[in-house]
Amino acid sequence: MVLKYADRMEQVKGLETREIIKFIGNPDIISFAGGLPAPELFPIEELKRISVRVLEEGGTGALQYVPTDGYLPLREKIAERMQKMGITASAENILIINGSQQGIDFSGKIFLNPGDVVICEKPSYLGAIGAFRAYQAQFVEIPTDNNGMRMDELEKALASTSNVKLIYVTPDFQNPTGITWSAKRRKEFIEIINKHNLPVIEDNPYGELRYEGEMINPIKSYDTEGRVIFLGTFSKILCPGFRIGWVCADKEVLSKYILIKEAADIQCNTMAQREVTLFLEEYDIDGHIEKIKLVYKRRRDVMIKIINEEFPPEAKYSIPEGGLFTWIELPEHINGRKLLEKAQEQKVAFVPGGCFFPNGGHENSIRLNFSNMPEEKIVEGMKRLANILREELIN
Ligand SMILES: Cc1ncc(COP(=O)(O)O)c(C=O)c1O
Repeated sequence: MVLKYADRMEQVKGLETREIIKFIGNPDIISFAGGLPAPELFPIEELKRISVRVLEEGGTGALQYVPTDGYLPLREKIAERMQKMGITASAENILIINGSQQGIDFSGKIFLNPGDVVICEKPSYLGAIGAFRAYQAQFVEIPTDNNGMRMDELEKALASTSNVKLIYVTPDFQNPTGITWSAKRRKEFIEIINKHNLPVIEDNPYGELRYEGEMINPIKSYDTEGRVIFLGTFSKILCPGFRIGWVCADKEVLSKYILIKEAADIQCNTMAQREVTLFLEEYDIDGHIEKIKLVYKRRRDVMIKIINEEFPPEAKYSIPEGGLFTWIELPEHINGRKLLEKAQEQKVAFVPGGCFFPNGGHENSIRLNFSNMPEEKIVEGMKRLANILREELIN
């Protein structure tokens, strides 16, 4: 049977995420593939008590519809966290969404007509590439260096591209490279987007997971004109299963997201919103984040140590100051996808770097996650990878 699908489906390709998800829960595989948090850090006992209390204390209200913009106490708590990051916000600037991924999808729905251009970092988050493709977007990728997106390249692209509608960036511990933008870059960036009057999606799932160095406030904190739309999430600082994230934006812009949310799914799960709220009210989320950071920092260090000691010197790697990923660039003739096939034979998985480049190329790179596997498995898996790489380089 051949059905006639919408034109947009032609651009929606299978993402490597399906390949990644295949590995989840398979105890035989040492997976550096997904961006999964460490499950042993989920505060399961606290959340068990909270789920009972939400029903006992919230009564039927915990099972009822809430307004589309979300449960007010949760929006208030999130606004407080935004203020701590230097962002001027109250509950009126916050919309609760199903993880930041929904905010990316809504951004495409709100800003993109078929053929419009999205400017993004080179490379960029593959979930965003997939979401914007569904709106038939084109991509212009801007090269990055260790301080983030290169502003000279951004200016050049803006001067030479006519239908740019949206800029999508992940300035903190980027997925996939781990790069963080300097404060100077953030300020320069705001000056440029103000000149061009462009909306910016600042996707920030990892900003609070900093293991060393000084915290840098989000780009949104430098935004005086309301052009930056900030996406946050509890996925990496609490757990992803609740699917609770948020949009923080200027009221006028947020009203568009609320309209789209209402049309898409009416609201986020009421129980989940209340459970996250009670956790924020009664438990120490900042203390919890500190615990996560200690574990992830150790895992990052273990991974980097093995890369440093055992990977061939031709492998160029990043040492991220936070987040969940390190990025490796290999000599031109080594293909990350082929390498993955060999690694899978040795029961190791990662994501080939090529899929983070919407316009293709750069197949000689790989992304490694260090948050999900315990230290001993990181050691074992990285040693296996080092052996595979050494053999590849000899042949
Ligand atoms: C850069 C980036 N944005 C968004 C998401 C989606 O997160 P959420 O679980 O909040 O939808 C991820 C998940 O890994 C991510 O890495």
